[in-house]
Amino acid sequence: MSAEVYSVLDKSKDSYSLWETLWSSNTTPWHLKEVCPFLLKNSSNLNFASPKRVFIPFCGKAAELKWFYDQGFEVVGVELIPIPVENFFKEQNLTFKIRELPWAKVYESSDQRIKIYVADIFSVEPEEVGKFDVIWGRADYTTVKIAEREKYSKLMKQLCKEKFLYFLCTLQFEVPVGRL
Ligand SMILES: C[S@@+](CC[C@H](N)C(=O)[O-])C[C@H]1O[C@@H](n2cnc3c(N)ncnc32)[C@H](O)[C@@H]1O
Repeated sequence: MSAEVYSVLDKSKDSYSLWETLWSSNTTPWHLKEVCPFLLKNSSNLNFASPKRVFIPFCGKAAELKWFYDQGFEVVGVELIPIPVENFFKEQNLTFKIRELPWAKVYESSDQRIKIYVADIFSVEPEEVGKFDVIWGRADYTTVKIAEREKYSKLMKQLCKEKFLYFLCTLQFEVPVGRL
């Protein structure tokens, strides 16, 4: 993590205010303007002849949301903070509507092929979002606290169809004692 992120982390009282401050101050060193090279390198594993449903947890305004959409997938993302979600639709010139659910605000494109639920990942209602053929997880695992990773893995498993493809794009790094 960069020094800028640590500096916001030190001042934030909770996880929501941490991520909101990072997005509102444009301190987003993880954000890539281009599609992740790891996805492109491994994309031959995807079934482009019959693109189905992809789930993108902790999606921010990731370029992969639009990339999967352009390949014909139905795209479902989950993101805690509204700022990147609104920016995603504006920057990609996609018109959207907002729908309120008890556990989320859903931003959806006019053709309903991209839906982003603004919610905490652990509030996701599996019956509401359905099951997926593909999960694209980049910088998701590192965002989940170590104590919550098992719960997160169980949730992801619940969201996979019987036959699925799971891309996990993560890294291993040393964290100073007391940071996580
Ligand atoms: C490290 S960023 C990764 C963003 C994205 N996957 C990408 O590749 O650009 C983590 C994202 O998860 C969001 N986030 C943090 N905690 C969350 C939570 N509990 N539920 C849903 N989203 C969360 C943050 O606002 C941020 O956009």
